[in-house]
Amino acid sequence: MSKRAGEGDAASPKKPKLGDMNSPGKPPPVGSIAQLDPAATGTDAKKGQQKVAFITGITGQDGSYLAELLLEKDYQVHGIIRRSSGFNTARIEHIYGHDNLFLHYGDMCDSTCLQYLVSKYQPDEIYNLAAQSHVKVSFEMPEYTAQADGVGVLKLLEAVRAAGLEKKTKLYQASTSELYGKVQEIPQKETTPFYPRSPYAVAKLYGYWIIVNYRESYDFFATNGILFNHESPRRGATFVTQKIVRAACHIKMGKQKQLALGNLDAKRDWGHAKDYVRGMWMILQHHEARDWVLATGEQYSVRSFVEKCFNHPLINMPVEWKGEPGTAEEYGVLKSEPGRKLVVVDQRYFRPAEVESLLGDPTLANEVLGWKPEMSYDDLVNDMMVAEMDAVKEGRERFMQ
Ligand code: NAP
Ligand code: GDD
Repeated sequence: MSKRAGEGDAASPKKPKLGDMNSPGKPPPVGSIAQLDPAATGTDAKKGQQKVAFITGITGQDGSYLAELLLEKDYQVHGIIRRSSGFNTARIEHIYGHDNLFLHYGDMCDSTCLQYLVSKYQPDEIYNLAAQSHVKVSFEMPEYTAQADGVGVLKLLEAVRAAGLEKKTKLYQASTSELYGKVQEIPQKETTPFYPRSPYAVAKLYGYWIIVNYRESYDFFATNGILFNHESPRRGATFVTQKIVRAACHIKMGKQKQLALGNLDAKRDWGHAKDYVRGMWMILQHHEARDWVLATGEQYSVRSFVEKCFNHPLINMPVEWKGEPGTAEEYGVLKSEPGRKLVVVDQRYFRPAEVESLLGDPTLANEVLGWKPEMSYDDLVNDMMVAEMDAVKEGRERFMQ
């Protein structure tokens, strides 16, 4: 594998220092992750009235779509990326050489880098998308999740205050429908009480309230987007939609035998991530800082998502369910070949405490912000299936976290 020029070679006078990703210079060639060099892309001098945005979590699903959107709107975009021993930039590879994109190493657990970057670039808008975002993983890494997803929000707010920017900078916090957990009302809206059911959701609860507290205490334009599940071809491979899409394509192409899942009866309000990042931007353009639910208002089960993917024209392998419903004894067979098990239930994928059902009411965002999802559930499934099938046919592996 080719070496990434500049990395690990801070002493070389010919190469940018590790961590200094903003040295002017020729953009690196784009086209393969292995060719990426965190050395930078142009000058960071602002053009006239150009807005400056700061995105944490830019290498994630939402961060990558949001970066595209803001670059289209001519923002100067600064993103923080984590140092990794592998490549974590696959989702932003296609915009890597953009003149208005600047990447910096950082971490939500490291307040010094957040303070340095916020005070240096004085962003007009901050989108805090960075998080350990996997609910099941949060049961295995509860302390880290609390630090990154909860206290990290405080570190960012304090970085803005330390720079004296709390009257200038607007901040979007990636809050979540997981806050509703064991739901107290159906559907869930901005006033529905929270009942978190995982270390992830409890950490996000801290993030939610510290945003509200700083808004009320310091007149800080700090907002929460309470977003219901949103997916896309860039979704990490261990989230249930991508796991199912990926398995359907691999099974069809003879590269995988079976799909093992946990709770088939969980229900989610699934939308397309592109619609949701547009909503994030709209939230920060609104004149008033407040908290908003973004959702589709439609709900489907994991079971029906499986059926939908295996029925997709690219797959055409309808599934029939057998065994005791709702138990680990249940399984799905190929309808036309009942001896062939396609889906099994594996206890390992059950969670210590489950969020059974989420359904959002996006009326406020619809009526006040004018936000509505443009992509339907069918569009979402189709977009994911086509992207994955193309990748499988080309022998490409995509986003594995
Ligand atoms: P994702 O794909 O998992 O991306 C998470 C991003 O956070 C990645 O860029 C990741 O970096 C980064 N990150 C993780 N830990 C970090 C740390 N300690 N310091 C700095 N960066 C860190 O998540 P997503 O689906 O885009 O979601 C974006 C945000 O919205 C998250 O906060 C999530 O909790 C929240 N949210 C998501 C949904 C949804 O359905 N997608 C719904 C509601 C709320 P690496 O690439 O290096 O891992
Ligand atoms: N991941 C996963 N893997 N989930 C499974 C599986 C499996 O094999 N089998 C069943 N499920 C169920 C989970 O138990 C859960 O009820 C549902 O499918 C959705 O799981 P995920 O796709 O992992 O998403 P999530 O709803 O737990 O969390 C996502 O959405 C939240 C917003 O509601 C993440 O993106 C969070 O970061 C986000 O806050």
